[in-house]
Amino acid sequence: PDPSLIDRFGRRIDYLRLSVTDRCDLRCTYCLPKGFKDFEEPADWLTFAEIERVVAAFVRLGTRRVRLTGGEPLLRRNLAELASRLKALPGLADLSLSTNATGLAQQAETLRRAGVDRLNVSLDSLRPERFARAAGRDALAKVLAGLDAARAAGFAPIKINTVVQAGLNEDELDDLVAYCLEHGFILRLIEAMPIGEGGRNAAYIDLQPHIQRLAERFSLTASTLELGGGPARYWRSHDGAFTLGYITPISQHFCATCNRVRLTCDGTLYLCLGQEDKLALRPLLRAGIDEAGLDAALRQAIDRKPERHEFREQPGKIIRVMAYTGG
Ligand code: GTP
Ligand code: 5AD
Ligand code: SF4
Repeated sequence: PDPSLIDRFGRRIDYLRLSVTDRCDLRCTYCLPKGFKDFEEPADWLTFAEIERVVAAFVRLGTRRVRLTGGEPLLRRNLAELASRLKALPGLADLSLSTNATGLAQQAETLRRAGVDRLNVSLDSLRPERFARAAGRDALAKVLAGLDAARAAGFAPIKINTVVQAGLNEDELDDLVAYCLEHGFILRLIEAMPIGEGGRNAAYIDLQPHIQRLAERFSLTASTLELGGGPARYWRSHDGAFTLGYITPISQHFCATCNRVRLTCDGTLYLCLGQEDKLALRPLLRAGIDEAGLDAALRQAIDRKPERHEFREQPGKIIRVMAYTGG
């Protein structure tokens, strides 16, 4: 029999997002609320051996892609060691990383050698003053140096994630396109989601008009290209030299084709980014559950995966901060 995880809505779940820490060295306003102090101590986080066991179970059940997220994943000690252990799991085809890039100048090469296949990097502005306002710290130069190091280490193509926000970067999209064109990066524009207080207070912008305008301005046409396994839809220039992606959870949600679940650093499996449905795996692991039991627990959890988020209907619903589940 096919071991794949198929949910009640016929969706095949084959992409695991793995949040390896809830800490971050930045304070992006849409992710963490103002004055946010810090999280609980990491004493009870899953160990690498426990993470590997859970990921191996997912891979047995048909997962082909794993994305390392945070918080800021580069802050997890010995991340490269975890990456190489996961990459060694037979059946795992795609190991990727979402990072803010402040640590990439130091770690890009090591991560590449450890087997990380793909990088997505958050960058909301190319102007130092705006970057500092958006991210709570003046770290733009570090991020750009991190991106250079990632390119030098052989990551290609690198995707840039830009959350478009009113009053911050809405007027800067053409500059971001030019920067990405020059460096061979794929630019992805993202609508802010109301997750946690920071996300709820974010200056949300409907991206649809921007899609139309940028397509005309840069002669882009909608493409069926699948770059990675995520919810982005892509548009390309005729010569293929430039690709622009859109992630529009609010104006045009993509839940009908959802393929993913999320594991947090404390071992909680979240079944949807926009809902609270979850399974606490840590107590099961520490009570000595065997492989068959683990597989059954994961199947039962997938049977409870919600149909979709309700960001429009209930924008105040999700209280946990984005840094906990990792986007
Ligand atoms: P690839 O397509 O594999 O490159 O990755 P990705 O786009 O899925 O991952 P990334 O971490 O770069 O996320 C980009 C944006 O998409 C972030 O704002 C995420 O919060 C958002 N996102 C990713 N997965 C989901 C999802 O399942 N639901 C929703 N609503 N948003 C998601
Ligand atoms: N809405 C949309 N995207 C978000 N991200 C973080 N918080 C939010 C939010 N509230 C994005 C980051 C990062 C990705 C992993 O998630 O910009 O690129
Ligand atoms: Fe999947 Fe939930 Fe994201 Fe919708 S909001 S795409 S159902 S994880």
